[in-house]
Amino acid sequence: MTSRSSGLTVPDLSQTVSIDGEIEREINDLLAWLPNVDQLSADERRGIIARYTAVLEGNFIYWMTGAYLAVASEQARVIIVDNLLEEVRDCHPGMMRRFAIAANAIPTDSDAQAVYRNLMAVRLFVGRLSAVRLVLMMTFFEGFLQRFMTYLADLAERQGSQEREYTDVHGVCDIAHTEGLFRAFQAELALTRDPSDTANLFEGVELLRTLIQNIVVAQAA
Ligand SMILES: [Fe+2]
Repeated sequence: MTSRSSGLTVPDLSQTVSIDGEIEREINDLLAWLPNVDQLSADERRGIIARYTAVLEGNFIYWMTGAYLAVASEQARVIIVDNLLEEVRDCHPGMMRRFAIAANAIPTDSDAQAVYRNLMAVRLFVGRLSAVRLVLMMTFFEGFLQRFMTYLADLAERQGSQEREYTDVHGVCDIAHTEGLFRAFQAELALTRDPSDTANLFEGVELLRTLIQNIVVAQAA
């Protein structure tokens, strides 16, 4: 996974195809980096679920709301509102909490502290409300989460959990969410005129990737 600086000024189809490919590569690299579940101890499995819950439960809707506040195009607003409606109406934070309880992995103070610094970096990035970078980060997030669900479900099952709702729902709905968010990204990119809006386009993606790695391996903070 390498860092890059995308000095885009005039969005066109070839650029968005290339960015789509970059996001796909980022997701593939991160999935390939995950430790083999067979080699994790029970404590390591619990820690991953607990840190994942500490980050996702209280932040996902907040970050998606940040994306909503940042975007200017009607197309992006409609896509993001649909996503938020599903999160709130179906109480995804509650689903997340039930998943953690069933796996005996309720986050502790230490779990929260283990991801504090990298979580704060993503929060501060979201607070800048940089539309294209933030929507690209959320596209990467949804795309990764959808494919991470099998791994997460495996961890929970090995912890003796029978709870499947969270991983089943997110293994399916996040496919459409990822496609929708990439369309939202394209709509926002088409509105940009200032080159500074698209410099370091992957900034949020890289901060979030570091946080996800910190969720999986606490010592990486
Ligand atoms: Fe969700």
